[in-house]
Amino acid sequence: MIDLTPPRDTLEPIEIASRDEIEALQLERLKWSLAHAYENVPFYRASFDAAGVHPSDLKSLKDLAKFPFTVKSDLRDNYPFGLFAVPRERINRLHASSGTTGKPTVVGYTAKDIDTWATLVARSIRASGGKPGDVIHVAYGYGLFTGGLGAHYGAEKLGCTVVPVSGGMTERQVTLIEDFGASIIMVTPSYMLSILDQYRAAGLDPAASPLKVGIFGAEPWTNAMREEIEQAFNMHAVDIYGLSEVMGPGVANECVESKDGLHIWEDHFYPEIINPETGEPVEDGEMGELVFTTLTKEGMPIVRYRTRDLTRLLPGTARSMRRMEKVTGRSDDMIILRGVNVFPTQIEEQLLKCPGLAPHFQIELTRAGRMDALTVHCECTVEGSAAREASAKELAHHIKSVIGITARIEVHDPEGVARSQGKAQRVVDSRPKD
Ligand code: DLL
Repeated sequence: MIDLTPPRDTLEPIEIASRDEIEALQLERLKWSLAHAYENVPFYRASFDAAGVHPSDLKSLKDLAKFPFTVKSDLRDNYPFGLFAVPRERINRLHASSGTTGKPTVVGYTAKDIDTWATLVARSIRASGGKPGDVIHVAYGYGLFTGGLGAHYGAEKLGCTVVPVSGGMTERQVTLIEDFGASIIMVTPSYMLSILDQYRAAGLDPAASPLKVGIFGAEPWTNAMREEIEQAFNMHAVDIYGLSEVMGPGVANECVESKDGLHIWEDHFYPEIINPETGEPVEDGEMGELVFTTLTKEGMPIVRYRTRDLTRLLPGTARSMRRMEKVTGRSDDMIILRGVNVFPTQIEEQLLKCPGLAPHFQIELTRAGRMDALTVHCECTVEGSAAREASAKELAHHIKSVIGITARIEVHDPEGVARSQGKAQRVVDSRPKD
């Protein structure tokens, strides 16, 4: 793979500033952000007052731990615009996530917020190996989801030629990548696998495609999946993280030269890791739930937002800003099977060890009597029932020996597992509701 390390003089100075400089900037901005939230959002005024804290109590970054958390239901309870810190007329853009139950969560951005967001996505694309003049194919969904428009504005800001395809119509995705000569694709990793299938179905060699970089996020994916995609397309696969409550894509991004976790753009977001049970912050290096406080957002500042994403903080490498390890999963997606905690990413890792199986999968939970059971639905790559049976045995063995659970494996024909054109639904819960 070609070396795409961005020249040092193309980085923003803050990306390689000293830790002291970064922390001084964070403290100044954090003071502003807490005061902005307290003075302009009744919800924060009430929650700070109830916890007996005032923005002026923040003297050091560590003092943030005194402030109350914000959770997803706080956004729902203040639907639609209750958490905005500026008059609605100053909100330039709305996004929303549908959620599976109840009201959507709505987020709002001022013109300045949109500009900051674009700058951070441009920074993320540059860290991924992109540069002005690149053709960027955006296959994240456009609309209320932040993926498409977030990627789009960032790519334009960097000075790229943007192809705003959105998700779906996989045949056309391949045609456009080839005809327009896209060197970068931004898409969910699971949908990239469908694009890969389409390359093969069309008799095209994915390794000969014009793509040099894929910027993949919006769902958990493993280093094993990175290898699978990098080898197939002969391109770099880089991780991008974000969430709408905090901004959208571009809260953190990997650097193409190191691919060792995602640098958090700490000049705009202050990360903490907490013990999800006690809510206490843990030391850098320890696993826990990721919590974010925005430092510059005007439209909808957010204080100590519990993401439910599990990861740990690591020191900076290619940039001075701290890294978060690839997200293992969301606490909501954690399966507890007969006392063992299992994440879909762990199943993905084992599946990718089996050459007879395709990388698409879905996990189904069922209950027979009082016992929960886990079935992995996957697809064969080779014909013949003997080969299928051998692959199923191989996967069951890996899952048993590495994760420690007994899983049923159902090997389907190619295309037998449901595909998504955005975020994959990894877990289907067919257990009776009680
Ligand atoms: O998924 C924003 C985004 C779009 C990020 C495009 C990257 C690329 P939401 O729909 O609000 O926003 O979902 C946010 O998705 O809390 C994580 O659980 C998950 N997630 C996002 N990026 C990653 C990633 C967008 N790189 C939720 N790895 C987050 C693992 C991710 N999980």
